[in-house]
Amino acid sequence: MIILGSDHGGFAMKEAIKRHLEEKGYVLHDCGVLDGCEVDYPDIADEVCDRVSQASSDLGILVCGTGIGMSIAANKHAGIRAALVSDTYSARMAREHNDANVLALGGRTLGENLALEIVDAYLGSAYAGGKHQRRVDHLNRYLHKELL
Ligand code: RB5
Repeated sequence: MIILGSDHGGFAMKEAIKRHLEEKGYVLHDCGVLDGCEVDYPDIADEVCDRVSQASSDLGILVCGTGIGMSIAANKHAGIRAALVSDTYSARMAREHNDANVLALGGRTLGENLALEIVDAYLGSAYAGGKHQRRVDHLNRYLHKELL
């Protein structure tokens, strides 16, 4: 399942991504914001990341104005590897090398077509494992959320 979330700065882009993925037949869960009203991005990141960390097969997509706040918030969660991406090569590498389970995007910094291509590149890639697992294992030893 793909778990979506945005604040008001990413709402329009999140809705475009949602339509795009629904057309492609993905099973989605939308954590909001559902109407574009002003919300705090850490609240939405928290809900998306809790769901993603509970189901290892799930991936999250978070959108705020720049993607920066969402990526910072997401990476505070144990087991979450969020990648703030603005090009398709990085989107592919985020899955293949970093096993990123959350994609963060800027709703105010990316055009819609590029954002949808980034989403497709991210979801269309797979973790390569091998030597990358040693590095991901190291990342998994960081338990930021417990420090809060
Ligand atoms: C909201 O105005 C904006 O600060 C937020 O969407 C995001 O860009 C934060 O990183």
